[in-house]
Amino acid sequence: MNNQNDNSNNHRRNFLKFLLASPLIGYAGTALASDTGKLDPDLQFILDLKKELISSPEEALNIFDLEAVARETLPRAHYGYIATGVADERSQIANRQGYKNIRLKARRMVDVRTIDTSVTLFGRKWASPLAIAPTGHQGAYHPQGELAVARAAKEKGKLMMLSNVTSNSVEDVNEARGEPVWFQLYASEHWSSNLKMIERAERAGCPVLILTVDMVGASYRETQDLFMRQDDRNCSACHGEVRSPFRGRPMYDGIDLNAYLDAGVRFDWDLVKKIKDTTDMKLIIKGITHPLDAKLCVEHGVDGIIVSNHGGRSQADSRGTIEILPEIVKAVDGRIPVMVDGGIRRGSDIFKALALGATAVDIGRPYLWGLGAFGQPGVERILDIFDAEFKVVMEQMGITSIDQITPASLALP
Ligand code: FNR
Ligand code: LAC
Repeated sequence: MNNQNDNSNNHRRNFLKFLLASPLIGYAGTALASDTGKLDPDLQFILDLKKELISSPEEALNIFDLEAVARETLPRAHYGYIATGVADERSQIANRQGYKNIRLKARRMVDVRTIDTSVTLFGRKWASPLAIAPTGHQGAYHPQGELAVARAAKEKGKLMMLSNVTSNSVEDVNEARGEPVWFQLYASEHWSSNLKMIERAERAGCPVLILTVDMVGASYRETQDLFMRQDDRNCSACHGEVRSPFRGRPMYDGIDLNAYLDAGVRFDWDLVKKIKDTTDMKLIIKGITHPLDAKLCVEHGVDGIIVSNHGGRSQADSRGTIEILPEIVKAVDGRIPVMVDGGIRRGSDIFKALALGATAVDIGRPYLWGLGAFGQPGVERILDIFDAEFKVVMEQMGITSIDQITPASLALP
């Protein structure tokens, strides 16, 4: 997949193979993953205090404590698959930097004893605006994979999005979640395979289909390759040849894998129309970064948008998604909900995204750190930390409900 001379069809095909391959995978390291890794040298004494790994989720002071455990305990190649973005990681870094560049302007003299963090999406009320982004191959981080995440989401009342490159079936995940999740699809040009997955998700009761559209062409995952070099296990001993992991994966039952993989990917508005004509599920498009595309989404009857650069894993040199968000919100003009993901690591990041017009936000890597570190209790701890931090920020800001969060609270760069 790193052969830059491939023609574009090969790129697409290779990408799809990669996408569907179980993570063979391997540095983004502390500095990328952990904000505390970038402390001013004057504050080095704080880092010195943090040398010990935590041994239970309850000990975590912040989400990065769980990241450190996942980094230490997961196979290097599997941790690298979580950590990686593309090329020299500028898109991933931009996601974090975008949040760090925004400062908060707090109001005082407000009674903040009662805080309401609830939001409503498609008529369903959620206690908090934090949702679980779709990520693939969770069996690589914990034997229970998506089921552990679903149980944590149920325990904490969170909206969960499930990738179609899941290690577990949508039916089992829905049961573990206690209600149907939102189902995310990577479409192939092999329409009958798409159709089978869409119909299956709909039959399982999923109310929302998410079409991810930002993985076009190859993605050069250098960080992953570096981690793989540090992994002395024989990848093919577990993974076999690249397609074999999908044989036996429950979501591929009844799908002609060769036809599906060989067809490659192509995203266009005809595909969107076809999907809309096929299903009654709401349709969200994930991976929008340009306001013109946001307008087209609305014009094509799309029900929602996720502003995303795939956590810096698709395109090189993207802007941070928090920088992109205001343009999309303006283009959409309140007609459909806009969510955002990428680099959300603190409660204050959630606040900033909502202030810039997001209806809700999604996290990817952080819950995978929890899963890899401690399984379901680890994911629950990540969700608790985000909820607790977000509520504290609301209190500090003198804001008691989500509708009061506006750009007036922000000092933008
Ligand atoms: C992802 N992401 C992703 N997105 C998607 O639509 N389908 C998928 O299967 C996956 N798989 C996947 C695996 C891993 C390991 C990661 C880290 C990410 C992207 C994900 O949904 C989300 O956009 C980003 O993870 C958000 O950025 P943060 O929170 O990881 O910085
Ligand atoms: C990834 C795919 C699975 O980001 O979306 O690795």
